[in-house]
Amino acid sequence: MIQLGFMASGRGSNVHAILSECLDGTIDARGGVIISNHADAGVHLVADDFDVPSVHIARDQFSTGDAFAAKLHSTFVENNVDLILLAGYMRKVPPMLIRAWQGKMLNIHPALLPKHGGKGMYGLKVHEAVLNCGDSETGVTIHFVDEEYDRGPILFQHGGVMVEKSDTPETLAEKVLKVEHLAYTKAVSRWIERYSGK
Ligand code: GRF
Repeated sequence: MIQLGFMASGRGSNVHAILSECLDGTIDARGGVIISNHADAGVHLVADDFDVPSVHIARDQFSTGDAFAAKLHSTFVENNVDLILLAGYMRKVPPMLIRAWQGKMLNIHPALLPKHGGKGMYGLKVHEAVLNCGDSETGVTIHFVDEEYDRGPILFQHGGVMVEKSDTPETLAEKVLKVEHLAYTKAVSRWIERYSGK
């Protein structure tokens, strides 16, 4: 069975959704370790709920970027992680880590890439961009992580979130989040089937 590693900065509702599906057997995987760049992030509580180890590892604990990347890497390796999932990780992932985990690191983006992605395009800014462009539909993209923001090959996409005239960035974020939870679990299953070799 494959082991999942997570990187998250916030409340961790995507981590929660994925670990729930692991527990009920919908995904053939289990949680290995959760890393957050914030000591007080809600995702640590999610980790406790599911009895998965969680660690606070942040760039400012290290004198160099390489030492930071090495600690992230060794934490995943020591916890026998096969696949890393970025789930609302709001910091730049060190390029060294991305290279080491090529093909084994996924990110979720709350819009239909290649639209509304790239540097600085995160959180409510994504939904603001969707509204400003007058898009009638939005959704979710799960893609492999490479060194360009939101540009890696797409593994799974789920549209169909209709944008209403009354929507605000906040209401859109809420609607998209529900789809994120469904889509991320499907993407993980797809990765296991196609790429895990297990
Ligand atoms: C999600 O909207 C995700 O797409 C974005 O950050 C949010 C994380 O939410 N990048 P959560 O911490 O999983 O609840």
